[in-house]
Amino acid sequence: MNHLDFASLKLFITGPTFIRDQVKQAALLPEFGHRDTENAKRFGPIMANLKALAGLPVDTDYQVVIYNGSGSTAMESSIRSLAADNDLVLNVSVGAFGDLYHKMAVVNGKQARQLSFEPGRAVDLDLLEKTMRQANPQVVTITHNETSTGVTNDIAAACRLIRAHNALPLVDGVSIFGGAPSLISESRPAMYCTSTQKSLGLPAGFGIAFVGPDAVAKAEKVKFRGHSSDILAQLGRSAKTQTLTTPNCTLANQMRVQLDHIVHGEGVQNRFDRHLKMRDMVHAWVETLDGFELFAQAGRRSPTLTAVRCPGGMSVQDLKALKEAMRAQGYLFDPGYGKLNDALAAQGKAVLFRIGHMGDITPDMLEEYLDILKHALQAR
Ligand SMILES: Cc1ncc(COP(=O)(O)O)c(C=O)c1O
Repeated sequence: MNHLDFASLKLFITGPTFIRDQVKQAALLPEFGHRDTENAKRFGPIMANLKALAGLPVDTDYQVVIYNGSGSTAMESSIRSLAADNDLVLNVSVGAFGDLYHKMAVVNGKQARQLSFEPGRAVDLDLLEKTMRQANPQVVTITHNETSTGVTNDIAAACRLIRAHNALPLVDGVSIFGGAPSLISESRPAMYCTSTQKSLGLPAGFGIAFVGPDAVAKAEKVKFRGHSSDILAQLGRSAKTQTLTTPNCTLANQMRVQLDHIVHGEGVQNRFDRHLKMRDMVHAWVETLDGFELFAQAGRRSPTLTAVRCPGGMSVQDLKALKEAMRAQGYLFDPGYGKLNDALAAQGKAVLFRIGHMGDITPDMLEEYLDILKHALQAR
């Protein structure tokens, strides 16, 4: 394989992210048949450990579904299975990924309306309450952690509010699950969606959903849920500890090993604490930089990624040049969410870069990265 000129970069983007050697080696474990008894040896522990990581009790009424695909696959399945044709879907958005949930509702022919907040701000619960009263939606989507801006919403309070208005909350937890409490027990979403390639420290390839009991009753009333997007078909297989469609066996082996490490090796609370520590390290580092500021609203800053506002004179092109300077030193730097930076630049506002500090990145790795990035910023 020496002829392949792949660069070995340390990823500090917001997913995919750094993969530990043990997880890489787990890709060499034996392939298996997904309708054979070997399958349950992988997916039995995977599903149990996902529930433990989600903070759900052993006798939880939430079920776990593993989709071939990614976070979007789980999110689109929630829309196709839980929004009926005559329902109104309210898509609450604090950035690009809230907008993505809205797009999924629209392109699947649902009646959808969006409630948007300014980039960098979290959901304003008073405004959400007012909109719930006025619009009376049956289904509401909301992002737990907005990857384009580094904002974490108060998901438990938002879901309680949505429930108080008799609507079903659907949560996108793609960029936070595995790095912070999912708060599923407290929030009671009808469905909580996530994926493998971010805070779980795995390659991309599976969408993951925690499906609540009322999702089942609702899906039974929704026509044309598709095939692989049908949560009832998915739940049927999940009850047998299986996937509906042929799983990526390599990823299943890696996930079996990685979740065991997370739950029984590192420990769930230690993992969450490590993410908070890294968030605080990045915040302290930004304070040492002249002219740079944290972008997200104070009090709602993400434990898994940070968006940093650059000084006025810095451009998107400068960030792209910085990305190449960091690549030359062996790191993949994140020059900000493209569409957001283009929009900010067009409005004459300061652009952003992001630091992913999720998954299996350690405080030592982060410290080294921040040091090198600081030098690169000062050398411009
Ligand atoms: C918050 C959020 N939601 C959804 C997605 C889409 O997930 P995927 O790329 O796994 O389909 C992403 C991807 O970055 C994300 O960050």
